[in-house]
Amino acid sequence: MTDTIHRLLGTRYVGLARNTIDYWMQPDDPTMTESRLMSAIDRAPALPHSSLRLYLHVPFCAQRCRFCAFSGGNSLDFRQAERYAALLVRQLHFMWGRSAMKGRPIRSVNIGGGSPDLLGPSIETVLGAVRSLAGFGDDTELAVEMTLSTVKPEFIETLVAHGVTKVSFGVQSLDATVRRYMRQPTTTKHLERVLRWIDGRIPVVNADLITGLPGQTREDVADDLDVLMADPRINAISSYLLTAGAAPALIAAIEAGTIPPPPPPLEQALMRLGTYGAFRRAGWVRRGTNTYVNPRGIAAAIVSKLAGDECIGASDYETFLLAVGPQAIASLPGVRIENLVDIEAWCAAVERDALPFCLPKCSTAHQRDMSLWTFPLRWEGLPHARVAAMKASGALSRAQIEILDALVHEGLVVDGPDRYALSLLGEVFMGQLVRDLKTDSARAAVDAYIDEGAALGHLVTLGRAHDVNPLNNRQLAKLSLDDGGA
Ligand SMILES: C[S@@+](CC[C@H](N)C(=O)[O-])C[C@H]1O[C@@H](n2cnc3c(N)ncnc32)[C@H](O)[C@@H]1O
Ligand code: SF4
Repeated sequence: MTDTIHRLLGTRYVGLARNTIDYWMQPDDPTMTESRLMSAIDRAPALPHSSLRLYLHVPFCAQRCRFCAFSGGNSLDFRQAERYAALLVRQLHFMWGRSAMKGRPIRSVNIGGGSPDLLGPSIETVLGAVRSLAGFGDDTELAVEMTLSTVKPEFIETLVAHGVTKVSFGVQSLDATVRRYMRQPTTTKHLERVLRWIDGRIPVVNADLITGLPGQTREDVADDLDVLMADPRINAISSYLLTAGAAPALIAAIEAGTIPPPPPPLEQALMRLGTYGAFRRAGWVRRGTNTYVNPRGIAAAIVSKLAGDECIGASDYETFLLAVGPQAIASLPGVRIENLVDIEAWCAAVERDALPFCLPKCSTAHQRDMSLWTFPLRWEGLPHARVAAMKASGALSRAQIEILDALVHEGLVVDGPDRYALSLLGEVFMGQLVRDLKTDSARAAVDAYIDEGAALGHLVTLGRAHDVNPLNNRQLAKLSLDDGGA
């Protein structure tokens, strides 16, 4: 009875997902070797459904936002920009040159961070290199992230000159109190300034928002959407669900009472429902995991370029996601590769042509069921033919097939004429759907990652660790936890 009362919006769930970027976690493999990893990379086959996507990570950042899942790898030392840009390109050439997809059409390039704008003029090196790869063409999406408080007009001019098709930047919340809790600049004057600099010359201008932030109300979320959607210079919005498990610094601040706890689960679910409802009422369409675009504000040719890769993980087993730079996670058929988070260690390895990977965090396990569990993240839905092929190859367990059927029965997933798609309610619980569609062991790896985040946050509360960027570096987590527990 109690259980029934606590289920949210009539679904099977009592809360929203605790995971976002950790969807792709795999269990650690202490036995991984360089030769096993390299032979898996070399053997990864180009398959009929294979596509090529590039992600280049820039780990410089002048802020230390409390929620940031990426801050563990960020550094202020952007004087290294020139050296770093050259090494990023070197790793890109290495990965691309070895991959079976070398020379094939490139679907998308995402340059993210951190704050890629802190590369300054060295962004030229990176943009020039990706644009001169064979396979980069008119259909390739070229997207760059930047931070509103640090970006300079010269950077934007360079993006325009290189034909960048999309820029995105974090706003998260326009409310000054929420922003202060998150250690963001309380003023949002930078937004106006940056939109003026862009001056309509980049086809897609995307603002990131987050729901579920400490101190945030449903009214705040609705007001933020009203303001941003009414601005004709913004034609795409990514609205993420806060993932506390990925940000131990946030957990620590909540535990210590420095900031209030996140809103209760029902409020959070209503924030998500209100967000997707607002997009749909305004005629915006989903074109990414958490991204909606205004089709009246973007040329049709540009809408079709949008690859919807903002969540920086592979969408299916066949995808070649070549991700380079510290902390970036690459994925090829049959192999997951996690780069070292430590910037100097990563640079030094690339400089001497050694592998800049964190071996125990890499995996050569085949994830042939990936199209199933990533499907809630994909705006294209899941074609029946894909499910049939996965079933025929034995990629799906009986439990996975049963859960898909149950989600359809419960109205979270819609079984359309040729594909499965999320209902509005399914979008609200997207992360839970991903979790449920995984196998037991894959789900356990995600849960362990989130628990590890909570344990790290707790160490800060106990005074045994410090609330500084390396706290969020999960490649060091074991060390911190062992020390903290000692
Ligand atoms: C990788 S960050 C870089 C953005 C850029 N540095 C900026 O702040 O404008 C991209 C987006 O991820 C989202 N994000 C980061 N950490 C998150 C978390 N723990 N939970 C949910 N979303 C998060 C934020 O919306 C952020 O704008
Ligand atoms: S959200 Fe952006 S600005 Fe804030 S710490 Fe993360 S990467 Fe830096």
